[in-house]
Amino acid sequence: MRKLSARRLVVLVSGEGTNLQALIGACEDPGYGAQIVAVGADRGNIAALRRAEQAGIPAFVLRVGDHAHRDDWDRALTGACAAREPGLIVCAGFMKLLGKAFLGRFAGRCVNTHPALLPSFPGMHGVRDALAYGVKVTGCTVLIVDEGVDAGPVVAQACVRVHDDDDEATLHERIKVAERALLVETVGRMVREGWSLEGRKVRIGS
Ligand code: GRF
Repeated sequence: MRKLSARRLVVLVSGEGTNLQALIGACEDPGYGAQIVAVGADRGNIAALRRAEQAGIPAFVLRVGDHAHRDDWDRALTGACAAREPGLIVCAGFMKLLGKAFLGRFAGRCVNTHPALLPSFPGMHGVRDALAYGVKVTGCTVLIVDEGVDAGPVVAQACVRVHDDDDEATLHERIKVAERALLVETVGRMVREGWSLEGRKVRIGS
């Protein structure tokens, strides 16, 4: 079992960036123990990039469409992240699957946040699918990214009740409140205490 630790974070984003904003806020406290050294995006002109700029955090944009092959994009993303020497990559609403090069370089050092209680409702529409299924409780999951779709080892989870009158938007907003708190807490603990991975079991601290 290899004990991993981190202090430097690269955060990957695709949209609104409220999870990024929560991490930015947390990192302002030196006691939190982490520093966001770069924000990476797969598209331009998104609120998340504006949040990074406002916080004075360097950002880069790498679009899949600007590369001849998806693997080229994956290698470019790997290089851009590696250049910042991160201990942990945080996918915070990053809507692309990561490829071989990236996962090889950052194995065990990349987490994602998903708006459902995995292994239920993986994929792009976790909130919609949970609602359609009729579950009474859903939530969010912080997981280690592997080659599967939302299939990696679970680091932390939080529950959110589904209300009878919820639609996808109201439920997702309530999940995102829990998600931001869970992400901040989990990343902070990983950074301060280190983590280890044994099969599918993730353990924070010793
Ligand atoms: C989060 O709910 C995340 O789990 C999902 O998209 C949302 C991103 O929110 N994949 P934001 O961009 O951090 O506001």
